[in-house]
Amino acid sequence: MIPIPQYPLYSAAIADLDAVQVNYYLDEDDHWALNIEELRRALTEARTHCNPKVLCAINPGNPTGQVQTKQVIEDVIRFAFEEGLFLLADEVYQDNVYAEGCEFHSFKKVLFEMGAEYSDNLELASFHSISKGYMGECGYRGGYMEVINLDPGVRTELMKLFSIRLCPPVAGQVILAVITNPPQPGEPSYERFRREKQAVLDSLAERARLIEDVFCNIPGFHCNPVQGAMYSFPRIDLPPKAIEAAEEAGHAPDMFFCLKLLEETGICVVPGSGFGQIEGTYHFRMTILPKFEKLNILLNKLKSFYQDFVEQYS
Ligand SMILES: Cc1ncc(COP(=O)(O)O)c(C=O)c1O
Repeated sequence: MIPIPQYPLYSAAIADLDAVQVNYYLDEDDHWALNIEELRRALTEARTHCNPKVLCAINPGNPTGQVQTKQVIEDVIRFAFEEGLFLLADEVYQDNVYAEGCEFHSFKKVLFEMGAEYSDNLELASFHSISKGYMGECGYRGGYMEVINLDPGVRTELMKLFSIRLCPPVAGQVILAVITNPPQPGEPSYERFRREKQAVLDSLAERARLIEDVFCNIPGFHCNPVQGAMYSFPRIDLPPKAIEAAEEAGHAPDMFFCLKLLEETGICVVPGSGFGQIEGTYHFRMTILPKFEKLNILLNKLKSFYQDFVEQYS
């Protein structure tokens, strides 16, 4: 079971394993919250044709940029426990939380707070990566998976699988070691580490706010707050004539929009259809990563491109 919109490596992995993809939809009208009723609907429907085993949650979300509340995480854990699902918690954006009042709650921590009935039984794997957060070391390919309550037979197979794989480069392993064991107060590197980390996170938060402000004020854009991760995922209105033109060109409407944007402005964003979205809605994903000064220029270009696009196809 995967969220829609989703990080497409999940649908690709499911296809690769010849497994069945079960979609549950995040609630765009409620800051892309994960809704338990929707999980239940997806599971009940899926059980008519397959035997769902795994529930995947991405928090903070890619491409949707939301941070789930502690209550939601508790509800998801209870749901997975009651339904006998293995829970995959993709928490690679755990350091990227920007919005006031939002906080990252790890599935493992919440699980252990819920008592032994849950923490001794629920099978949980959580993921982290050095490619996100404040470090953004994408090319070094380091990350980890922490697994709890894994069936011993499955653990044996998992160890075999890892043993036949090659390890990531030493640099990636060193970075991972530093991230999992960062400088502590009183140690020589601590002050500098703290300052640099905070500067990166403050700058990302500033960019998240700027994108949100601009997108929320473009008529035809509908944008949730960028609470975390590294993305904004606005819904955009596309005129019927643009949708017809996209069909003629053999593209999904949001792909058509994104290609035109790229061709005319050089701005590269990813169409919502790459992540999944409710049929008849159109989105794109934009990262908050461009430098602040460039971002302003880029957002102005994007805004006037959209206005011209709407006019052209109206
Ligand atoms: C939600 C999510 N999970 C996992 C990954 C994979 O991270 P990495 O490339 O560091 O393995 C990404 C990368 O974009 C992601 O967005």
